[in-house]
Amino acid sequence: MKKTFFILSLALILMSTQLLFAQHDSTMHQRSSIKHALAVITPTKGNSVHGIVTFEEADKGVRIIAHLTGLTPGKHGFHIHEFGNISSDDGSSAGGHFNPMGMPHSMPMSEKRHAGDMGNVEADASGNAHLDYIDSVMKLNGHNSIIGHAVIVHEKEDDFKTQPTGNAGARVGYGVIGIAK
Ligand code: CU
Ligand code: ZN
Repeated sequence: MKKTFFILSLALILMSTQLLFAQHDSTMHQRSSIKHALAVITPTKGNSVHGIVTFEEADKGVRIIAHLTGLTPGKHGFHIHEFGNISSDDGSSAGGHFNPMGMPHSMPMSEKRHAGDMGNVEADASGNAHLDYIDSVMKLNGHNSIIGHAVIVHEKEDDFKTQPTGNAGARVGYGVIGIAK
């Protein structure tokens, strides 16, 4: 009887340590391995912006490539906003600019800026915009990861001055940033 109890206890201990290790492994894996992320941009109500924004781990930060169509010609504020919630017609459910470090609004090349400040995209006469740059503030992994937040495309140009929005006007397109292969 004693022996059976001993063997049973041993089995239980072994099982629980294995479970602990398995959990630890999967957490570590998720937190350190995101190399690509992607947001599919769809229009807010009354607008026609469509596109894809990709985020890719690079040597000196995150390489951001955006292809957008259906814009009015000219510059449009382009940011990551706090919440990956695009359930509202006007994009307001995405909240304000993603700002985990408590910084002022600024331009992408500035060190003191919202993590979500990607500046402007500029559309040509046909309404197409293309952006490709390496962002040294943004993170794909860790506490300040952009995963699960939202990309917002604005009606107007970001002036890099007005706090905390850049005075970029209405939200014309939005998409949630997800993990990509
Ligand atoms: Cu914005
Ligand atoms: Zn900002």
